[in-house]
Amino acid sequence: MLDTNENRPALPAEIARRRTFAIISHPDAGKTTLTEKFLLFGGAIQMAGQVRAKGEARRTRSDFMQMEKDRGISVSASAMSFDFRNYRFNLVDTPGHSDFSEDTYRTLTAVDAAVMVIDGAKGVESQTQKLFEVCRLRDLPILTFCNKMDRESRDTFEIIDEIQENLAIDVTPASWPIGVGKDFVGCYDLLNDRLELMDRADRNVVADSVEINGLDDPKLKELVPAHLLDQFMEEIEMARELLPVLDPQAVMDGTMTPIWFGSAINSFGVKELMDGIGKYGPEPQPQNADPRVVNPDEKKVSGFVFKVQANMDPKHRDRVAFVRLASGHFSRGMKLTHVRTKKPMAISNPVLFLASDRELAEEAWAGDIIGIPNHGQLRIGDTLTEGEAIKVTGIPSFAPELLQNCRAGDPMKAKHLEKALMQFAEEGAAKVFKPAFGSGFIVGVVGALQFEVLASRIELEYGLPVRFEPSQFTSARWVQGDKTAVDKFINANKQHISHDNDGDVVFLTRLQWDIDRVARDYPDVTLSATKEMM
Ligand code: G4P
Repeated sequence: MLDTNENRPALPAEIARRRTFAIISHPDAGKTTLTEKFLLFGGAIQMAGQVRAKGEARRTRSDFMQMEKDRGISVSASAMSFDFRNYRFNLVDTPGHSDFSEDTYRTLTAVDAAVMVIDGAKGVESQTQKLFEVCRLRDLPILTFCNKMDRESRDTFEIIDEIQENLAIDVTPASWPIGVGKDFVGCYDLLNDRLELMDRADRNVVADSVEINGLDDPKLKELVPAHLLDQFMEEIEMARELLPVLDPQAVMDGTMTPIWFGSAINSFGVKELMDGIGKYGPEPQPQNADPRVVNPDEKKVSGFVFKVQANMDPKHRDRVAFVRLASGHFSRGMKLTHVRTKKPMAISNPVLFLASDRELAEEAWAGDIIGIPNHGQLRIGDTLTEGEAIKVTGIPSFAPELLQNCRAGDPMKAKHLEKALMQFAEEGAAKVFKPAFGSGFIVGVVGALQFEVLASRIELEYGLPVRFEPSQFTSARWVQGDKTAVDKFINANKQHISHDNDGDVVFLTRLQWDIDRVARDYPDVTLSATKEMM
């Protein structure tokens, strides 16, 4: 993220009130529950349970979704907008399973901050750690929510230490839990000097919040059982001695994370976290682009596609491109230039994703996420502008880690298979390589589960049973260099050459030795494990 806030004039109010963020967590830490409570407090749903209920309804629509349900993972990502106090929150959902890391990475290019949810009993788990590393690559500000404090959880200092040690980030307590497990009564809000008391009787009731005039206030004694209060006082004293105080700039820089303790299922600590996102989460940030940085307050509209989802509605076979607006004030019907093809596009049916449904977006501002239904023109990494030829950068494509041959069950259906595979490739769900020699396709993914998802989707969405079989290759690298050097390289290595779905040259091999050999023998050619989405 660019650190240009200081020298920028204040953003227009509509942009300044936007907070666009994602939640990162290990499966089961409580991301869904927390999302639901966000929507509840944001007024986007009326009662808890709707997110899940909607999930159920959606899942019954297809076996693919059935598979998603069976495995308990969330394959599809979406964006949700809701208001809270004066803020407009745009929450971008990240797929939870590690097999979808590339998708997740790209999702994180569309947000300005992340909320990290950890389970108070489990601490920093593997998937959280991985996602955190991705956030760190972009210096994203991170706000932490330690969930499930109503259950037996670890010692507060131990949790904070673990985050500091494992993630190498300073942690500052925004709230402090009082009691643990069955004895957990609530939290002291250190930022606002308030006592928040959890109501165990009704999960949807927001906690009692009592203003406290510092830690000597006699109200504390009245409201907190004596044995818990003593321990709490001791801990707070230690915390004040040992832990850093909140430094908003350090949070912005991604070097410090404030931590709130709570229980999502009990609606506890969630509002304080939301206030924290409003106050310490950044407003829409400038976007890296070529040949210049795009600032959110620019008058002209620009945006980029960070995700494409096909067949969201099986009846319509539509594709929705998720666009993060980088600048300006968009209104429905606008004509934007699709920079890659230089063609104008009238954006007549953009959608905003509100919790309960999609809704036509009459207008949107920098920071917002809109969905643009299209027939395949929009691809991941594409930029839309009001005419200027700028291209948003930093949306990479990664070399797949697993390769398999894909064959149609019915050999007469090869053309159909090609169409289906190309569509998934454009969606970013897989890499598809057409070898220069031989027939068929080689499909590359990051995690093995993706093969199953693809096979299942191709069968469902195209009525085409397919088989995945081991490939002779295990690695793919994009070939870069000037044309003469690349042509010479291709001629000498035909058995290893293929083209990806964009037509770019790819070197396939099973040996690291081969990759090293190319570096030695062809100094004018580079083999790369990433490429910028074009
Ligand atoms: P995820 O999206 O991160 O995978 O987690 P999710 O919200 O689905 O929560 C995982 C489980 O943890 C759920 O239980 C959920 O009810 C529970 N949970 C979430 N927040 C809290 C909390 O603050 N305290 C406690 N004690 N539990 C919490 P489940 O049994 O898997 O599902 P369900 O039957 O409750 O729906």
